[in-house]
Amino acid sequence: MLINAALLLAPLTLAAPAPVPDALPEHDHFVPLASRQIGCVSNASNADALQQLLIRGGSGYVLRLCPGQVYTLDKPLLFNNTRQEISTAGYPTGAARATLVVGGDPAVNVNAIRGNRKGMDGCAIRHVQCDGNRRDGRRVPRTAGIIEMGGPTSGQVVEHVHSFDPRGWTCLHTSEGPDLNCRGMRVAHNQLGPAGFDDIMAAARPEMAGWSDGLSHACSNSLVENNYIVDATDGGIVVFGAPGGVIRNNTIVNVERQALGGIVFAQSPWRPRGNYQGLQVYQNRIVGPFATSCGDNAKRVGPNKYRALTKVGIAVGSGVTQSALQEDIKVFGMSIYDNVLTGGFSYGIAVSLARDVSVHGNRFENAKFFGTQPKRCFWNSTTIDGDGQHPHGPLPLIYYAGSTHNLRLQSDFQQAEAWYLICINAPESNANAWPYAEGMKC
Ligand SMILES: *[C@@H]1O[C@H](CO)[C@@H](O)[C@H](O)[C@H]1NC(C)=O
Ligand SMILES: *[C@@H]1O[C@H](CO)[C@@H](O)[C@H](O)[C@H]1NC(C)=O
Ligand SMILES: *[C@@H]1O[C@H](CO)[C@@H](O)[C@H](O)[C@H]1NC(C)=O
Ligand SMILES: *[C@@H]1O[C@H](CO)[C@@H](O)[C@H](O)[C@H]1NC(C)=O
Repeated sequence: MLINAALLLAPLTLAAPAPVPDALPEHDHFVPLASRQIGCVSNASNADALQQLLIRGGSGYVLRLCPGQVYTLDKPLLFNNTRQEISTAGYPTGAARATLVVGGDPAVNVNAIRGNRKGMDGCAIRHVQCDGNRRDGRRVPRTAGIIEMGGPTSGQVVEHVHSFDPRGWTCLHTSEGPDLNCRGMRVAHNQLGPAGFDDIMAAARPEMAGWSDGLSHACSNSLVENNYIVDATDGGIVVFGAPGGVIRNNTIVNVERQALGGIVFAQSPWRPRGNYQGLQVYQNRIVGPFATSCGDNAKRVGPNKYRALTKVGIAVGSGVTQSALQEDIKVFGMSIYDNVLTGGFSYGIAVSLARDVSVHGNRFENAKFFGTQPKRCFWNSTTIDGDGQHPHGPLPLIYYAGSTHNLRLQSDFQQAEAWYLICINAPESNANAWPYAEGMKC
């Protein structure tokens, strides 16, 4: 969205004083501000000062940050009223967006922004960057994302946001709310990731170990579209029910890091448990890693210097991530169709602990399926080193009859032991396993 950059950039060098509280009309969409005088709050303001503006601003207040400036937060910014917005003045894209850096003690401070409480209906985050700052500290094993939205709210928006390097478990969390009443959120045009340290990275820096998601999404009747998610290590998009919504046209890419999955349908907190009723998931593109140098030209496969891998492109039900003895609630009610998978995976689409799910019209383009199962990985034992049977090896489409019911599946699905499939490793980095990307010259 190009608006006159010179106009927009002019006020920021003047570091305008705190803006007058400004009640925007309830906007569902991008509203260009070029015709208005645009002030912005400079980064001379610390988190407390920014928070005071939100508290004094009231409903509809827009906290306009200055383009290009970096705000280090020793505590998160909390939305304080309905229809508030945190954005960069003039709504620039790319590096011109203001950056909120999660600062302070990594054992305490994980969030940049929180808006998941009652009274925060219609709040929006637009055109900012949120740096989770995992680099300077350890992972924080608490359930918090860089951005925590959703909760008992309706009509929230997160768009054109870049959120990356979470200390906690995700770049962006849209929670279901304590009474399962989150509704009508829009999450669009965001860039999420990289997120988390995969096992190979963690072997070199054990204190940083821990996977993280790109988007962790539970809010119902919501739209998630046109997001770009790169190098998440847990799931690119992990869905927790989010019934009645749409997830479409997102791109989920792994280049340098291993991921459990591209889109992961985990346990749903919605009632009855497992509920995904009416969720439509279509036209997403899941891109596993490709060869990083030439290998076998005849087969068009080569090595990958990162040993990157998307273990499961689309994982439906918690049987994919757990053994048979751990969890028995089936997810149900979603349709997954017309998605495209390309690059290197262990499994394309895997279904286990699911019922009344439709999976059709999904396609593979230039995809390969590979991985080595560690000796101690069993699907019929609660511990990975118990006595037991191995899950089935790599396949494009796999489901397990014993853990599913009333599925409508596209043809070519293979029935096999689809339990605990994520217990698989990338081959050595010099193996000729990864597909050449389209047009790779060797
Ligand atoms: C404000 O942001 C600029 C980048 O525009 C940065 O160089 C500066 O250190 C920041 N100031 C503070 C107080 O963080
Ligand atoms: C807004 O801030 C005030 C003062 O801290 C607090 O009492 C109030 O609960 C906040 N409102 C919301 C909706 O969080
Ligand atoms: C889908 O996403 C692509 C980028 O991957 C974008 O170019 C295209 O406009 C999007 N389509 C729709 C209908 O939003
Ligand atoms: C798992 O399978 C192995 C090999 O078939 C068998 O010996 C073992 O008893 C099974 N364990 C359970 C808990 O079913």
